[in-house]
Amino acid sequence: MEQRGLGRLRLPGLLALLAALAALAAWSPRVSASLDLSLWPLPVSAMTTPRLLYLSPGNFFFGHSPSSKAGPSCAVLQEAFRRYYAYIFGSYKWHRGYNKIPSEMELQKLEVSVIMDPECDSFPSITSDESYNLLVQGPVATLTANRVWGVLRGLETFSQLIYQDSHGAFTANESNIVDSPRFPHRGILIDTSRHFLPVKTILKTLDAMAFNKFNVLHWHIVDDQSFPYQSITFPELSNKGSYSLSHVYTPNDVHTVVEYARFRGIRVLPEFDSPGHTASWGKGQKDILTPCYHASEPSGTFGPINPILNSTYSFLSKLFKEISTVFPDEFIHLGGDEVDFNCWESNPAVLNFMMNKGFDRNFKKLQSFYMQMVLDMISAMKKRSIVWQEVYDDEGKLIPGTVVQVWKMDNFDNELRNITAAGFPVIISAPWYLDTIHYGQDWREYYSVEPLNFLGTPKQKQLVIGGEACIWGEYVDATNLTPRLWPRASAVGERLWSHQDVTDLRDAYRRLTRHRCRMVGRGIAAQPLFTGYCEHEGRM
Ligand SMILES: *[C@@H]1O[C@H](CO)[C@@H](O)[C@H](O)[C@H]1NC(C)=O
Ligand SMILES: *[C@@H]1O[C@H](CO)[C@@H](O)[C@H](O)[C@H]1NC(C)=O
Ligand SMILES: *[C@@H]1O[C@H](CO)[C@@H](O)[C@H](O)[C@H]1NC(C)=O
Repeated sequence: MEQRGLGRLRLPGLLALLAALAALAAWSPRVSASLDLSLWPLPVSAMTTPRLLYLSPGNFFFGHSPSSKAGPSCAVLQEAFRRYYAYIFGSYKWHRGYNKIPSEMELQKLEVSVIMDPECDSFPSITSDESYNLLVQGPVATLTANRVWGVLRGLETFSQLIYQDSHGAFTANESNIVDSPRFPHRGILIDTSRHFLPVKTILKTLDAMAFNKFNVLHWHIVDDQSFPYQSITFPELSNKGSYSLSHVYTPNDVHTVVEYARFRGIRVLPEFDSPGHTASWGKGQKDILTPCYHASEPSGTFGPINPILNSTYSFLSKLFKEISTVFPDEFIHLGGDEVDFNCWESNPAVLNFMMNKGFDRNFKKLQSFYMQMVLDMISAMKKRSIVWQEVYDDEGKLIPGTVVQVWKMDNFDNELRNITAAGFPVIISAPWYLDTIHYGQDWREYYSVEPLNFLGTPKQKQLVIGGEACIWGEYVDATNLTPRLWPRASAVGERLWSHQDVTDLRDAYRRLTRHRCRMVGRGIAAQPLFTGYCEHEGRM
C-alpha cells in the first residue's frame, strides 16, 4: 500500500491532459469480455456510461458521508468496509500501472450515507429495508441507503462493478444503480442433522449467501438422525442425541453463527421440526416419543412426539422458551411435515385419548391438536411461526400470520392459490430442492420458475413473501455442501431479488459464469456451470 498519494501527482494543465490521454491510450483495453457488467443478481436499474474510472488499492477507501446517520462506531459497516476492500483488491495480484492514474480518472472513495436510524445494532428482520442507490463517478462515488442493510447490498454491487482490465488495472464504468429486492424472504435451507456441518462451513455459506444477496439462513438444525443443538435447559438432548460429543453446536457456536449472519444482513431462522422427524429427541428426553405397539404389547420402537402427555407440552414450552431467546429472529420454524400415523394408531392410550377428545380415529385431528398447542406456545412468546404445508393441508386452525412453506411439487399452483386465498403468507421451496441433482445445467430450471405464476388476486400474490433453496443433508456434508449449493442457488437468488422480467437465460448464463468465477476468487468452491475457465483461477 506504499503507493498512496502517487496518483495525486499534480501536473500543470496541458501536461496533465497529455498524461491523461497517454494513460487512456495505454489502458484502453483490447476487446475484453470483462468489460461487460456481470452483476448478480441484476439490480432494478443499472445505467452505465463508457467513461472508465480507475482505482488504486493504495489510494482508495470507504468512508462515511458527514451527513450520514451512521459513523465509525457502526461495527456492521466498518467490518463490511474491511471485507469489501479485501474482496475488491485482496485476491488479485497487484499489477504495475495502477499507480499512474490521472486524478480526473481516479475513483478514490466510496462515501456511504445512511438516511434513517441505521439499525447498526439491530438484527435484520422480514421488514428490513434493503434498498440502496449507488452512484459511481470520480473521484468520489456515493452509496445511499435508508438502513445499514441497504448499504450491505450496495457494497456487494459496488464490488461487482469493479474488474481488472487486460492490463490488470482496477476499473469501473461510471454508473448509476437503483436497487431493492423483489421478495423480502430469500433463504437457504441447510440441514445439520443428517450430517453435521462444522461452524466454519456454515460461516462460509453465509459469505456466499451475501454474495448472492440472500438474507435468511433456514437452519434445519435437528431431525431423526441427530440432535446437534446443545440446549442449556436440556443438555441430555445433544449429549445422547448427537452423532458424537464433538458434533454439537454449543451456545457459543450458535451465537457465532447468528452474529456472523447479522453482520451480513442475514437472519438465522431455526427449525425444530416436530412431531415427526424427532427420533433423536427420544435419546435424551424420557417419554417424549410415542411408544409403538405390536399385538397389544409395546414393541420397543418409538414414533412421533407423544401428543397425549402433559409432560410433552411442559418440556416443549421450556425448550422453545430457550430457543426463542437464543435465536433473536421473530420467526421460529416448527416443521410439522411427514408425520407417520402408524405408531399413534397402534398405541391404545393414544386411541383412548382421541376417543375422549372426539377425534373419531382421525389422526390428522390429533396432529392438528398437537400443532395448535405448539403454535399457541410460540405466539405466547411473542414470536411468529412458520410451518411446512402439511400443517395447513391437514386442517390445522392456524393463527393468522402463521407462514406456510410449500415444499411439494404435486398440485403446487393449487396449493399456493389455496393457502393465499385463506390469507396465510407463503414461502416457496418446492421447485428449489437443490439436494436433487442430475446431469447438466439444472440451474436453468430453478431460474425459470416464476413464483407468482398461480391463479390469484394481487392481494394473494402479495402473500408470497419469498422462497428458499433447500440443500437437505442426506448426501451432503462439509466436503460437498459448497460446490453443490453454488452457483446453483445463485439462480434462486436472482429469481427472488431481481425484477420479474429478468428471465433471459443467455444473459443469465453470461453473468452467472463470471459471478461463479468471482465467488471462486473469493474462496467459495463453487462448481462450474459448463466448460470454460476463470481469469483469476488459482489465486484463491
Ligand atoms: C464501459 O466502458 C467501456 C469503455 O468506454 C465501454 O466500451 C463499455 O461499453 C462500457 N460498459 C458498460 C456496461 O457500459
Ligand atoms: C393434564 O392437564 C390437563 C389440563 O391442565 C388436566 O386437566 C389433566 O388432569 C392433566 N393430566 C394429567 C395426567 O396430569
Ligand atoms: C383447495 O381448496 C379447495 C376448496 O376450498 C379444495 O377443494 C381443494 O382440494 C384444495 N386444493 C388443494 C390443492 O388443497
